[in-house]
Amino acid sequence: MLEGDTIEKYHLLPDKKRKRLLANLDENDLISLTGALQDLKKEVFKRKEDVFLNLPYDEIPTPAYLIDETLIEENMKLLKYVKDRTGCKILHALKAYATSATFPLMRRYLDGVCASGLNEARLGFEKFKKEVHTFAAAYREDEIKGVIKYSDTIIFNSFYQLERYGRWAKEEGLSIGLRVNPGYSEVENPMYNPCGNTSRLGIIHTVFDSHYESYSHLVDGLHFHALCQQNSDVLERVLDAFEGLFGKYLRGLKWINFGGGHHITRDGYDIERLIGLINRFKKKYGVTIYLEPGEASVLNAGVLVSTVLDIVKNKEEIAIIDASAEAHMPDVLLMPYRPHIIGSDMPYVKKYTYVIGGPSCLAGDTVGTYSFDRPLKIGDRVVFTDMALYSIVKNTTFNGINLPSILVLGKDGSIRVTKKFGYKDYKNRLS
Ligand SMILES: Cc1ncc(COP(=O)(O)O)c(C=O)c1O
Repeated sequence: MLEGDTIEKYHLLPDKKRKRLLANLDENDLISLTGALQDLKKEVFKRKEDVFLNLPYDEIPTPAYLIDETLIEENMKLLKYVKDRTGCKILHALKAYATSATFPLMRRYLDGVCASGLNEARLGFEKFKKEVHTFAAAYREDEIKGVIKYSDTIIFNSFYQLERYGRWAKEEGLSIGLRVNPGYSEVENPMYNPCGNTSRLGIIHTVFDSHYESYSHLVDGLHFHALCQQNSDVLERVLDAFEGLFGKYLRGLKWINFGGGHHITRDGYDIERLIGLINRFKKKYGVTIYLEPGEASVLNAGVLVSTVLDIVKNKEEIAIIDASAEAHMPDVLLMPYRPHIIGSDMPYVKKYTYVIGGPSCLAGDTVGTYSFDRPLKIGDRVVFTDMALYSIVKNTTFNGINLPSILVLGKDGSIRVTKKFGYKDYKNRLS
């Protein structure tokens, strides 16, 4: 029977004690523990809403991404729990979030990073200082030396690239992988579907079947990535497809990488199912399993703080803020999605409705239409939630608008400005 304080203290226990505790729990207790840890995390995030509402916004330079270390750590704890229960390894995907100011915290929980090429591999090597696994759709001749230098594992997207660089990487002591297309995904937007008919990502099974035998001696593991913000039921169906096509090649490999897109730290994610899938797979094939989520590491752990610069009128009242959808939250327009603004609701639900738009010349640089209890006025702060992931790594200086500062809200409540951008950054980026 699980004690309340066991749950509270779980994350504080040293490795050995956690393992002993888990080994002594029966299936029902394990299920209860998972649910209780998810609830605990949810509570911390809920309590943080007040903190976010009452930050000293007057003192915060805007626009600014404010990253919350307490919340990142809550996400890390759940990822670590999956590792505890399965012995899998979890890498953070730098493509989603690469703010090294919080790497010291993250590295305490995770096994390393996955990188998309030379620069991310180097950042991982220099700043995360744990395992670096690199995958690129194709490596450049003039970068491969650096990729090999900074990576522990290199994953190739074709037999041509494996042939060209694989032996060299092997001689340098790297583990070698091939990315395959599992032939199944449930991602509707083709922009984010790595398994669509025109996808270049991952070797398709017919090509794999005809070439693998000649190269199998070089290969340590297989990698697939087919999920996007999804739950473990989708992973289960992707795994079925992957096994159907590639199962006969898996015994004897050292590792299988299940890619990213696992929304493990989202409320309602079925962690027990994920744990079951990893454990069954490990047992059946005797391989180490890697996951490489990006979003899950920093989900809901950062906000973008902006200031109202002006209010103009067309058919609606329009608030022009100092943050841009186009430049500072590009996925809002690309995906597209509607970020939440703290204290707001859907249009016309609250008394005062505004279109929220950026300072750029792009007509479509608007975040959406929101309603508020009070009229917005010039100088008010507008705070967008869930902005740590993919926003900072993808932002631009379109129109010469400065990039938002990067601020870290420490566990002690202090706010550190880790980066401010100005004219020099803009100028140097362009020539
Ligand atoms: C190969 C690979 N691994 C990991 C990720 C991280 O995915 P997410 O941030 O959705 O978890 C991606 C995202 O595109 C990816 O392409």
